[in-house]
Amino acid sequence: MFLRKKILSLGVFMTAMILVLAACGNNNSKTSGTNSTASTDSKGSSVETKTFKLAHITPTDHLWHRAAEKFGEELKTRSNGKMTLEIYPSSQLGTEADMVQQIESGSIDFGFITAAYLSSRAPDFAAWFMPYGFNTLEDAYTAGASDVGKKILASAEGTGLKGLGYLLGGQRVMIFKDKEAMSPDDMKGLKLRVTPSPPMQDFYKSAGVSPEGLPLPDVYAALQTGVIDGMDMDLDATITNKFYEVAKYAAVTNHMVWPSVILANDKKFNSLSAEEQTIVKDSLQAAIDWAKTTRTAEEEVFKAELEKNGMKVYEISPDKFDKQINEFDNKYKEQSPLVKEFIETFRK
Ligand code: BEZ
Repeated sequence: MFLRKKILSLGVFMTAMILVLAACGNNNSKTSGTNSTASTDSKGSSVETKTFKLAHITPTDHLWHRAAEKFGEELKTRSNGKMTLEIYPSSQLGTEADMVQQIESGSIDFGFITAAYLSSRAPDFAAWFMPYGFNTLEDAYTAGASDVGKKILASAEGTGLKGLGYLLGGQRVMIFKDKEAMSPDDMKGLKLRVTPSPPMQDFYKSAGVSPEGLPLPDVYAALQTGVIDGMDMDLDATITNKFYEVAKYAAVTNHMVWPSVILANDKKFNSLSAEEQTIVKDSLQAAIDWAKTTRTAEEEVFKAELEKNGMKVYEISPDKFDKQINEFDNKYKEQSPLVKEFIETFRK
């Protein structure tokens, strides 16, 4: 009798342990997507609150994170507190490839994913990297909102993703550790960090550079130790990553724009009511408008900040890159009718 009781309580204990371990396992999974919770308002009526998850790769002082915060604030205000946003910055949830997978599976709801990364999966995104294509961020946003811009956005869809728009960072510049390069001739043989996006790497190869496809978090140490001689970057990330501590020259070429693509989980977005979808879209648009105005106003502030930190900030005449521009247009217009239309419609 005593033995039966002991076996029984051991069984109960083991079952409880298995349940506890299973629960711990769930907590260890990266995230589990939208969280809906029911609560009661001041009148005692039940209210459902939705908490969305958004991931991106930049540090918290970068424009894209600040735009994500603005998106969260707008969601909360426009939904009277029924929609909130949790933000996972700085690649906390992994690489862009990991984040795209998590959006596809629905374990996160939204991501800001670089068009550069997407250009390796969906080649029409190469259109965005036409060298010297746009004068201003405003012009690039106009291209994104056009029919052809929307068709390129839709080319990311089909695996559980929905494209909701573009959020642009500052245009790309060239940072050199200790050489004031003034032309592709001066850049020949340099090892520069260039995002592993085919159109971006083609541009630099055509200028005689050896492109190194390092991820952003590895760039500071590579520059400091001389593994690379410089990089393709934006002014924002040059400041937020303190590259001015290890590089002397910033050529503000503004030779390419730098879009992130706002991706959502397709099924989850479509499962929202029409009113909720409108709140999400309007909140995103408010964040995009804020980012456009803010970043445009920051251009001169960022240049001054780099100078204050000891960098020489200078310009390179765009006509030095005529060969690279022609090579890009010839190769990529051939590649797809959408890229051709984008270049022919928007090249300044
Ligand atoms: C980069 O990898 O160069 C980068 C990514 C996100 C924002 C800015 C720069």
